[in-house]
Amino acid sequence: MTRIYFNEVATRDGFQIEPEFIPTDTKVALVDALSECGYAKIEVTSFVSPKAIPMLRDADEVMGRIRRLPGVEYTVLVPNLRGAERALEARADELNLVMSVSEAHNLANLRMPMADSFAALSDVIRHVAGRTPVNVSLSCSFGCPMQGDVALADVLNLAGRFADLGVRGITLCDTTGMAHPAQVGRMVDAFQRGLLQAQPTMQLTLHFHNTRGMGLANVLAAVQGGIIRFDGSLGGLGGCPYAPGASGNISSEDAIHMLDAMGFDTAMDLDKLLAVARQMPHIVGHDVPGQVAKAGRITQLHPAPTLQTRQDSAQPA
Ligand code: COA
Ligand code: ZN
Repeated sequence: MTRIYFNEVATRDGFQIEPEFIPTDTKVALVDALSECGYAKIEVTSFVSPKAIPMLRDADEVMGRIRRLPGVEYTVLVPNLRGAERALEARADELNLVMSVSEAHNLANLRMPMADSFAALSDVIRHVAGRTPVNVSLSCSFGCPMQGDVALADVLNLAGRFADLGVRGITLCDTTGMAHPAQVGRMVDAFQRGLLQAQPTMQLTLHFHNTRGMGLANVLAAVQGGIIRFDGSLGGLGGCPYAPGASGNISSEDAIHMLDAMGFDTAMDLDKLLAVARQMPHIVGHDVPGQVAKAGRITQLHPAPTLQTRQDSAQPA
């Protein structure tokens, strides 16, 4: 059974686009509940500017108050050196640096050209080397809502430059759900034959949004290409406030349910996870897209409807 590793991003990607502030106590309680569900990793929050993402202005407090379960990694999003200092202070297990493969999205999201971001993140990587492992998330790897197509060669090139700096992982983000399964297959194949062959210990994670309903099909294409690490957001919440048209990530519980049904070893406690997923509408104050929390697992059977004979149910003309 192939082991699949899930990183839960609901309290970071999931919450950052929500309009109503979610209280710190609720965030801490949610992370603590998620820790009990079997995740390999939880992206707890972002050490970004509180003006850019007011929802996550309590990042330091949340990291200080969560209960850390051995075996679960607690990672945080970091856009710059200031964020890295805060993340080190908070004893994050991993720094998830972020920049875009699209110039337009990088300018909108990080307010600087890609070249400046790369230089700034290189400084961060050198600064934390030997202290905390680094993952780099590449936004808009499958297309940009402002610029359009993103060349596969550009993604490979940027990932390769970060790999040369010694990062332990790369996440390819489909920030606004533009990827389709054939494209995912080509991308994964190119990484398998290139970077992953050269550096077999490199952790390659895929991060899909379900903006156009292609999320789970993309997960399937990725696992068929040998990918074993995924980001997901409980309930299917999520989206980048600086990417026009962004909407929710793939729902973690729907993706895990699918892979579990197919016989993959997700190491997740799906019943516990669904119980937490069912709290999400109450936490955010609205319905959420995830489907399995509503429908139940495929193993959950229903009593047959009471059968009526044709004669019983015949209505008088
Ligand atoms: N943590 C806390 N505050 C930070 C910070 C960090 N990591 N980086 C910058 N700031 C503060 C600065 O202190 C400054 O505050 P001030 O106005 O009170 O003096 C303000 O933010 C602007 O700082 P500056 O260095 O000029 O950055 P900027 O305005 O060019 O913004 C980013 C750049 C990257 C910090 C900002 O755009 C950001 O945080 N973006 C977040 C993007 C994001 O999370 N997107 C969704 C996920 S992909
Ligand atoms: Zn995302």
